[in-house]
Amino acid sequence: MSKLITVFGATGQQGGAVIRTILQDETLSKEFRIRGISRDTSKPAAQALLKHGVELVSADMSSKESLLKAIQGSHSVFLVTTPAWGVAGSDAELIHGKNVADVAKESGVQHLIFSSLLDVTKESDGRLKHVPHFDQKAHVEQYIRSTGVPATFILPGYFMNNYTSFGMLRKGEDDVYTLAYPIGKDALFPLIDIAADMGKFVAAALKNRSETLGTQILAAAEYYAATRILAEYEEVTGRKTQFVQLDSEVYKSFIPGPMGQEMLENHLFIEKPGYYVGRSLKESQALLSKSGYQATSWKSFLEQNKSSL
Ligand SMILES: NC(=O)c1ccc[n+]([C@@H]2O[C@H](COP(=O)([O-])OP(=O)(O)OC[C@H]3O[C@@H](n4cnc5c(N)ncnc54)[C@H](OP(=O)(O)O)[C@@H]3O)[C@@H](O)[C@H]2O)c1
Repeated sequence: MSKLITVFGATGQQGGAVIRTILQDETLSKEFRIRGISRDTSKPAAQALLKHGVELVSADMSSKESLLKAIQGSHSVFLVTTPAWGVAGSDAELIHGKNVADVAKESGVQHLIFSSLLDVTKESDGRLKHVPHFDQKAHVEQYIRSTGVPATFILPGYFMNNYTSFGMLRKGEDDVYTLAYPIGKDALFPLIDIAADMGKFVAAALKNRSETLGTQILAAAEYYAATRILAEYEEVTGRKTQFVQLDSEVYKSFIPGPMGQEMLENHLFIEKPGYYVGRSLKESQALLSKSGYQATSWKSFLEQNKSSL
């Protein structure tokens, strides 16, 4: 009988990508049946999964009781947590992650794959203390390690669709598209087409379980500087672009509340010591290619999404 994989965030970008990849993968689609988790299984994004034979279970990561029902019987679990954006001092993301880790432990899960990130406070030696959406994921990772649940940690890079979905490239009156960052144009962004590629990295972890247990996979296509991001954008779209480095206070004034400081420090971290503290992507790329996959480049992402840019 096939093994059960439970996918959190099934209605979102990362969980959705994981489900699509498993369904389309010749080996994994035979090896695993999929259970998708949503707080509201009646919503269209959840209902759409039923057509593909995905079992739907309703659960909320804040309720351990609901998690027991969600995780029971699972061989593997994919976990993505989300921050309580804008709620200063909230540790909801950490609690959600710990709850899932505890229930995975109790339920005898054989492979927990967690969408993690680095601890910015620690890696910046305390210089940048206000990036809880990174730090809390790193603390969840630490907690999972302490429980002894067999686990792999996949650290997604900077989403390519940050540029296309959040209006980060703004069209000015002169028809020039401006990318404004509080850091220099040479800072390196490890980019990932999250909706297409997160599933590929998870598939690589599933196909190489024993090799990847306890390790961190860096899920990104390549490191890109803003200059290359804009040059390739110009090439694909024919639009003119410019890079502007903003003063920290000016940058923050565009983002209301505690998010301003968080996003500022997040970018300062990308500049120094670096999103992955300068680690090479080679090993993760090699794992991906031996699993039969290749990451999407920024240029292909733009070409594929040209009509919606
Ligand atoms: N933007 C970037 O460049 C970047 C880079 C690296 C990492 N990230 C991280 O990526 C994460 C977002 O991933 P995504 O884009 O896949 O998210 P998304 O598309 O917003 O989806 C979030 C999913 O989480 C589920 N969810 C939320 N709260 C839940 C709860 N209490 N219990 C159970 N399920 C819950 C939602 O399901 P229902 O609503 O159906 O319940 C939804 O499917 C964030 O943590 C962010 O920090 C972002």
